[in-house]
Amino acid sequence: MSTRVEAILGSITEVKADAIVVNLFQGVDSPQGATRAVDHALGGLITQLIAQGEITGRLNTATLIHSQDRLPSPRVIVTGLGPAESFHLRRARQAAAAAALAARKAGVKTLATVVHGAGAGGQDPAQAAAAVAEASLVALYRYLEFKSRPDESPGALDGLLLVESDPARFSAVAEGARLGAVLGEATNLCRDLTMRPPNYCTPSLLAEAAQDLGRKLGLEVEVYGPAEIEALKLEGIMAVARGSQEPPRLIVARHHGGNPEERPDLALVGKGVTFDAGGIMIKTTRSIEHMKSDMAGAGAVIAAMAAAARLGVPRELVAVIPAVENLPSGSATLPGAVIRLQGGQTVEIASTDAEGRLCLADAVAYACRRLGARAVVDAATLTGSCVQAFGHYTSGLLSNHRPLEAAVLAAAEEAGERVWPLPLFEEYWELLRSDTADFKNTGITAKAGVILGALIIGQQAQNTPWAHLDIAGPAWLEERFGYLPPGATGAGTRTLALLALRLPDRGEQA
Ligand code: BES
Ligand code: ZN
Ligand code: MN
Repeated sequence: MSTRVEAILGSITEVKADAIVVNLFQGVDSPQGATRAVDHALGGLITQLIAQGEITGRLNTATLIHSQDRLPSPRVIVTGLGPAESFHLRRARQAAAAAALAARKAGVKTLATVVHGAGAGGQDPAQAAAAVAEASLVALYRYLEFKSRPDESPGALDGLLLVESDPARFSAVAEGARLGAVLGEATNLCRDLTMRPPNYCTPSLLAEAAQDLGRKLGLEVEVYGPAEIEALKLEGIMAVARGSQEPPRLIVARHHGGNPEERPDLALVGKGVTFDAGGIMIKTTRSIEHMKSDMAGAGAVIAAMAAAARLGVPRELVAVIPAVENLPSGSATLPGAVIRLQGGQTVEIASTDAEGRLCLADAVAYACRRLGARAVVDAATLTGSCVQAFGHYTSGLLSNHRPLEAAVLAAAEEAGERVWPLPLFEEYWELLRSDTADFKNTGITAKAGVILGALIIGQQAQNTPWAHLDIAGPAWLEERFGYLPPGATGAGTRTLALLALRLPDRGEQA
């Protein structure tokens, strides 16, 4: 069941919902704006609770109080915004998430909230509304597909109302609420695909999920099997798939928002390793545990395409997903094997566990050479090295093109995702030298792994603007982080969707 998001014009004191949400900056002892109006209606109860130290305005604190018939809504949640001086939209997200979680805990079905940041916070009302809608949906996510009795824990929120009292700001709030809802739902779609157990998310089942979604949203989805992948000379994909009984799939999904006669404005490429056992060089017990999430890049790309379709992005977009299982078996590719990439280069497979770069190299080549994409961005749970560098809250960004890199960073900022650039210096190729082939798929040492993986993928883009998001850290959380529960996070989804949405007109491009 998904939460319906709506914007309404009116005063929060007049709304009838199971609970209303107002906010408070830290260190403020007499509330302002909507919070003041609610405080008045409650006979100064909020002011009193502030004086008693019960309500502090600290970030990630949400206090639930009962309105005892003094308001149309029976409950009021006061959520903390932190200090006013350093407020920003990430904190609006945290405040919205804390309120939504407090509401669900109390069994609330309909929640009405002010738009944190749109008033005294001084933020753009559309962006603030998008942040509140998105973070509420993202915080409330739960993966229930395989729970026999999903009713054990408090149920989902049915409706979220964003209440704006200023008619001059209302249309911006309504528009932002819609964008935030689409982005939040897309994030959760990626999480559903990523959480799905590997026996329910094989390459062919992932392809079917993309096709179902395509039918629902008007995306044109084509799926290719081993014979076609072979014929297209995508040996990097075949080399990874060979160890598995499950045949590989190449998923190509198109959103026609522009002129279908023209080259795609943007190709999104997603790593779709539906399970990464490491191949012949099988992973250890601990590191293999959540390798069903090695298709999180594919999930992000599919979900971003879904968002683009729902938002009617006025561009030609294409998604390319190599979907494979990386397993050990008698037919698996052996360490030391040499293959030829679609682009013509030979690779010595020094590690069968460095499989992502092989299938992504071919998928990027396909996007550039066959589809003629004008720009390519790939998302992949590519390296443990990136997790070492950034932990679980930042994705690495590597690119051959400054303006595209800047566009991805701007999209990430708007998305509330943490993305940070790393270099792609050509000198690093030295570390991939091979005696047998043009290069190896892993370095001579284990150092700079995130850069080496990206070099191999980016080489296939040649002169096409290309950027690579290594989401290995943020895609999956072993423990709760902020308002994100453990498990899949949907990392990259919103950044890719907003990148597509904010893509400049070709007339405007430098
Ligand atoms: N899918 C893994 C990367 C990964 C690691 C994702 C941890 C999420 C969490 C990738 O295919 C892999 O195995 N990479 C190796 C490459 C190495 C053999 C050069 C790695 O990073 O250890
Ligand atoms: Zn992998
Ligand atoms: Mn691997």
